Amino acid sequence: MNVVTVNASKKYDVFIGTDLIDNLGDKIVPFMSGKKVMVVSDDNVFPLYGERAVSSLKNAGYNVTTFVFPSGEENKNIKTYSEIVEAMCEAGLTRKDLVIGIGGGVVTDIAGFAAATFQRGIGLIMVPTSLLAAVDASVGGKNGIDLANGKNQVGTFYQPSAVFCDIETMWTLPEEEYVNGCAEIIKYAMIVKDGLFELVRDKEVKDQYEEIITRCIAIKRDFVEADEFDTGKRMMLNFGHTIGHAVEACSNYSIPHGRAVAIGMAAITKAAVVNGYCTEDTRMQLDELLEQYNLLEDLKFPAEELMDKVKVDKKNSAGMLRIVIPKDIGVCTIKEIYKEECLKWIVLGGAR
Ligand SMILES: NC(=O)c1ccc[n+]([C@@H]2O[C@H](COP(=O)([O-])OP(=O)(O)OC[C@H]3O[C@@H](n4cnc5c(N)ncnc54)[C@H](O)[C@@H]3O)[C@@H](O)[C@H]2O)c1
Ligand SMILES: [Zn+2]
Repeated sequence: MNVVTVNASKKYDVFIGTDLIDNLGDKIVPFMSGKKVMVVSDDNVFPLYGERAVSSLKNAGYNVTTFVFPSGEENKNIKTYSEIVEAMCEAGLTRKDLVIGIGGGVVTDIAGFAAATFQRGIGLIMVPTSLLAAVDASVGGKNGIDLANGKNQVGTFYQPSAVFCDIETMWTLPEEEYVNGCAEIIKYAMIVKDGLFELVRDKEVKDQYEEIITRCIAIKRDFVEADEFDTGKRMMLNFGHTIGHAVEACSNYSIPHGRAVAIGMAAITKAAVVNGYCTEDTRMQLDELLEQYNLLEDLKFPAEELMDKVKVDKKNSAGMLRIVIPKDIGVCTIKEIYKEECLKWIVLGGAR
């Protein structure tokens, strides 16, 4: 088992290994003084892993209640959130007790938001079961829910007490969800030069989950520690995301997040070659890796349509936004540009 320690406003460990779910009851002892636990999960994950977690928790003497909601991003909303916090209240949870989110990023985001806000914050344990949640959503403290007109519009920064990533859960992931997680892994490989790129190129991610997940979490940890509240350096994690988010929105969310980020990474890199930031060789290396993971796709939406969906930075005024531009494999730079300039990048990225 590997352990990555995150030293943010709260210090906590991320455990990556096997047999974690079946031993969850014993594992959580250090993180609470109460006796009540609420397990939050979705209806795909709970039958696979939730029941095993619940029996381990019960065997350890905890009083367990469960909240299972229908899977899917469309349920990461205020209605599900309010049902969760009502269930927590009904179960009599206090700040000595714990919420455990077991699932993909939808579950960890909404369980995190519920834990952060219930009684102004109760203990939270994350058990990511999708590759994307393991390498990204469950670590770093961001949580949230969607509004009718925008993803993640409501949320907080709230770090968990611990994260248990049981890599055996990855084996039941549908292929498309595996591929989605691989896109975020390739993103990490493009922003940090530590051999991750070569590692995922030379051997399939699924043949080395423990190593790859650990490395990605360590990379995310470094950015979170440097900029927990996302005002500067953490922005680097957004490589491929400015165009990626626009692709997701233009497709009415039929293109999933990871695949959209892959399209965004390929497009911004194509534009970066034309603008003299990186070489054609760098672009080819990225495209080949994306192709290897079945993630290479063109930007097939009109530039103006994509531009309508590009979000201007909340932190900036005067229509500015920051984009992450590749300079080499494992080296990117953040550039602040005017929204109008972004249109040029999107066109050079291959938009119609
Ligand atoms: N908080 C953050 O920092 C952060 C970062 C990235 C993404 N996110 C959020 O994460 C969400 C996307 O996460 P996701 O891709 O995990 O989506 P998801 O939670 O919808 O999971 C994808 C699908 O896989 C299923 N699933 C999960 N684990 C499984 C397993 N082990 N076996 C079989 N099926 C399994 C789920 O039920 C779901 O149908 C988005 O809402 C996004 O906004 C948050
Ligand atoms: Zn992402």
